[in-house]
Amino acid sequence: MNVNIHEDYQSMSKAAANLVARRIISRPDLVLGLPTGDTPKGFYRELIDFYEAGLLDFSKVTTFNLDEYYPLSRDNPISFTNYMYERFFNHVNVSQNKIHIPDGETDRVADECQDYEEMIAEEGGLDLTVLGIGENGHIGYNEPGSKLGSKTRLVELSEESIVREVPGNYDGIINKALTMGVKTIMNSRKLALLASGPRKANVIHDALEGPVTGDVPASILQLHPEVTVILDREAAGDLDGGELMV
Ligand code: F6R
Repeated sequence: MNVNIHEDYQSMSKAAANLVARRIISRPDLVLGLPTGDTPKGFYRELIDFYEAGLLDFSKVTTFNLDEYYPLSRDNPISFTNYMYERFFNHVNVSQNKIHIPDGETDRVADECQDYEEMIAEEGGLDLTVLGIGENGHIGYNEPGSKLGSKTRLVELSEESIVREVPGNYDGIINKALTMGVKTIMNSRKLALLASGPRKANVIHDALEGPVTGDVPASILQLHPEVTVILDREAAGDLDGGELMV
């Protein structure tokens, strides 16, 4: 596990974008797993800057998002689909037919989940997946207690995740998500885990330096051979070791 600690949110976001840019330049048809949430907003802005400067071409890149609330119309302003178009896809040249996001509108959940896994397999698997981390250690929406062998499936969100992440007026309405499983994520050839701010310090310590346990799903990343952890100084605040990269 390669842990990089940056001064602040902006330099963390730049480092994450640089990592993805390097991979796309060396492999233009990269298969990329992508997160939503507050943490990657700066990362997407940096990638857009690269694109606008003519430094990156996304036309051959295939993307698979980690998760989507369920049930929820993709046009709903709080959907992860809406987030991805607003914050990234509308601003770069990713081909529409290479974008994949779990379908929060499906009434055939089991088929949708199986199809999602098959589409990833048909693309040759995920090359690089960028992850955020929940304060309870979730990756994607693999909440505490998720199994190592889990694949894309419908999950119940924990109370903690609903309170912290689902916008207030949807509290009590949205309590489920479709998410890639722990195994789906662990099968990605490379992983990048991003975290920012003091609220993530405790879980980053547990995930990186604590025991590998299903209670902290992100701790399983300790067993992945190619993980880059990109933190700002605040998120790294509870780590025993670690060196600041500027
Ligand atoms: C979202 C996702 C989640 C988030 C996590 C952190 O697609 O997979 O695991 O990465 O909830 O969210 P933020 O960045 O908002 O703290």
